[in-house]
Amino acid sequence: MQMRASINILIILVCIVFSSEIVAQTSPWLVSESDAAKINSFPVTPKNVAVGKNIFAQSCVSCHGSKADGNGLMKSTSLISAVFQKQTDGAIFYKLSIGKGQMPSFKSLKEEDRWALVNYLRVLVNPTMVPAAVDVKLDITTSESPNSVTAFVTASDSTKTPIADIDVHFYVKRDFGMMRIGHASNPTSADGKVTVVVPDDIIGNSEGNLTIVTKIENNFLYNDVESSVTKQWGKQLATYDEQFNQRELWGAQDKAPIWLLLLANAIILGVWSAIFYVIFSLAKLKKAGKIFTK
Ligand code: HEC
Repeated sequence: MQMRASINILIILVCIVFSSEIVAQTSPWLVSESDAAKINSFPVTPKNVAVGKNIFAQSCVSCHGSKADGNGLMKSTSLISAVFQKQTDGAIFYKLSIGKGQMPSFKSLKEEDRWALVNYLRVLVNPTMVPAAVDVKLDITTSESPNSVTAFVTASDSTKTPIADIDVHFYVKRDFGMMRIGHASNPTSADGKVTVVVPDDIIGNSEGNLTIVTKIENNFLYNDVESSVTKQWGKQLATYDEQFNQRELWGAQDKAPIWLLLLANAIILGVWSAIFYVIFSLAKLKKAGKIFTK
């Protein structure tokens, strides 16, 4: 009797757990009419779509997937399905501001940024809403005292119109990767130019050469482009010095300190002598045994 009662309770518990799970997944997400009717006063522009794209890559991809199809690290709603896209801008804005269940609230984002996300989600299914990225030409000139690099960005066609307000990244090439120099953002001015000073304490190759790379990258409006220049502006890389050729603890094998060689060989000798001593003793024991059994 008691057994049946506890089984019943178990069944009821399981039902409650599962039904609440199903309700949580399928309950429709209602948005009030006034929220759904809220007007998006930010038109789709390459700039705010780029902002939306950046926020999406940082905060949404983990759950909604890089294609926004709901296949992130965890399963969530597809944001490119026809059903989803049928909603008003206001409804989407409301949902991503408020959150529900696993979907976090993004109220902490500026209102402008939340609308930028809405615009980005629209562009995902309708890419022609923003103009396609275009090619630009990136030239570099250098000047000395102080050592500096100037990037000059122009239209790639024959007009060669300078392009203002385009973010150029500056790097110094290293053995494994690139070291950023300049500011986080280096926008060109009205003449299409931006200059960055190269620090004078960077170590170059054995001749002191530095390869400086300028790039336009991850830009919504312009295709990636890069150019580079090599200048003798670095400190010489020291490959040989006095200490290198002496017996030191950090030296190569044939430059090991004498005391270390003696110590290591003494240890090896000690171990081998112990082994030989054991073998010798065993042999002696065997011999002694033979005499005894005779
Ligand atoms: C921790 C995982 C997670 C993150 C991060 C996340 N979401 Fe969601 N999102 C979900 C889940 C789960 C749902 C489904 C919620 C439901 O309907 O119960 C959802 C639903 C939504 C919906 C409503 C879909 C519908 O039913 O109409 C929108 C819009 C949305 N997410 C946008 C975003 C945006 C934009 C971001 C980034 C700023 C984001 N989400 C980040 C998990 C996440």
